[in-house]
Amino acid sequence: MKITNICCIGAGYVGGPTMAVIAKMNPKIKVTIVDINAERIAAWNDEDVSNLPIYEPGLAKIVKETRGKNLFFSTEIDQAISESEMIFISVNTPTKTYGKGKGMAADLKYVELCARNIAEVATTDKIVVEKSTLPVRTAQAIKSILHNTGSEVKFEILSNPEFLAEGTAIEDLLNPDRVLIGGESEAAIESLAKVYGSWVSQDRILRTNIWSSELSKLTANAFLAQRISSINAISELCEHTEANVSEVAKAIGMDSRIGSKFLNASIGFGGSCFQKDILNLVYIARSYGLNAVADYWEQVIILNDHQKRRFSDNLISTLYNTVSGKKIAMLGWAFKKDTNDTRESAAIYVADHLLSEQAHIAVYDPKVSGIKIQSDLNYLNTRTEEENNDLVKAFEDPYKATENSHAIAIMTEWDEFKTYNWGKIYDGMKKPAFIFDGRNILDKTEMETIGFEYSSIGK
Ligand code: NAD
Ligand code: UGA
Repeated sequence: MKITNICCIGAGYVGGPTMAVIAKMNPKIKVTIVDINAERIAAWNDEDVSNLPIYEPGLAKIVKETRGKNLFFSTEIDQAISESEMIFISVNTPTKTYGKGKGMAADLKYVELCARNIAEVATTDKIVVEKSTLPVRTAQAIKSILHNTGSEVKFEILSNPEFLAEGTAIEDLLNPDRVLIGGESEAAIESLAKVYGSWVSQDRILRTNIWSSELSKLTANAFLAQRISSINAISELCEHTEANVSEVAKAIGMDSRIGSKFLNASIGFGGSCFQKDILNLVYIARSYGLNAVADYWEQVIILNDHQKRRFSDNLISTLYNTVSGKKIAMLGWAFKKDTNDTRESAAIYVADHLLSEQAHIAVYDPKVSGIKIQSDLNYLNTRTEEENNDLVKAFEDPYKATENSHAIAIMTEWDEFKTYNWGKIYDGMKKPAFIFDGRNILDKTEMETIGFEYSSIGK
């Protein structure tokens, strides 16, 4: 099938950047990204590209280049579906919060709504591409919905999971380690491979059966998260043995069988996907009665929760076993640097624990607003919105945020934190002045020379 029109349902962290790059690299294809969230679409259409709903290095430039030429953002979902030959489903697939599988399974209602929408509207043949991360065998359900419309329209379903990481999305999309396409129809697979072929060499475009493709995505995230939990487990052992986790990580990472990436000990991984996808994997394994498999992967999450908790426990015990009425400055709220995304950020859980111990929290994050910080805490429902409002203040200046604080907790590894005038920050703080470096980004000797009581992870 010749592809001249692409529609992407879901203008989020994946749909936006992915389609922007596809549009840039395929100037002859018209790409329309649609969403039910009119506010989000309006932000994508904002003339000032610094107001795009998503912050990703390099994204604004590409949107500026392509928007209005062959990249469009719209709420006219039906029209975009009917005009296109290829439709990407890139909607959210969060963990279920109700019913069977609550807290574990992926909620597929948004994906199913998309499939039904396509089934209703389509009058010409379509290739439907699963871009969202889905449980293995979801294509079966999509197929069943699309193939029971009673019309003559033909649908081919492909799985094309996305492996980009936030903060490096554009770089990852422009130079992917691989593009994975799973499907039954060779012609449909080749149509999609051609779209990517505009900038990705064919040997990096992997063709598999559809179930392998769906399962590979969950597996990749599980393996990545497992490495973080593994090094975090070792970080706790380091703290009891005078070993240094950075030295251990370097030593093991130089073994080419292990590799050096994803071995940074931290306050625990966050982000919208690792936890959700592993919980989903655990749920799927249990649903097949594979309890040993399920228990194995569940441990990655258990260790991650332990790591977040032990960071805040350590902070409280170091501050003489109480943070009640004390000001704790948190530097960073996003789940990693170079993104404004806060979903499942460790900062939220650490803050919640400290608030339950009656701490006052001051937050500075270069890309996250005070409103977002409040809504993340309110979502947990641990205390009233008024209490969160009273106890948590967001600042636009890191020096103001840290002024008169008893301790600083570094939650995100933003590069700018390394460049601060730490002597000035020390002068403004209560003494002894504590730093809890949850990302191991500051130099211990330098901080101790200034006068700080400095602690980090795994050292
Ligand atoms: P997101 O929440 O940022 O965006 C999803 C968008 O879909 C929202 O704007 C929502 O309004 C829209 N939507 C939901 N239902 C709709 C419907 N029926 N019609 C039209 N629009 C609808 O989510 P995201 O982070 O972009 O993730 C999307 C999928 O990609 C998930 O399955 C996720 O696991 C996967 N994924 C995410 C990342 C990442 O870095 N965020 C990376 C790889 C894969
Ligand atoms: C992750 C994967 O890396 C992507 O390949 C995948 O597409 C994506 O999930 C997804 O499916 O959503 P992302 O969550 O955006 O990407 O970011 P990562 O760089 O993987 O970081 C995840 C979390 O792990 C962050 O909180 C980060 O700070 C933490 N991390 C990462 C560590 O604590 N240590 C490390 O060594 C690496």
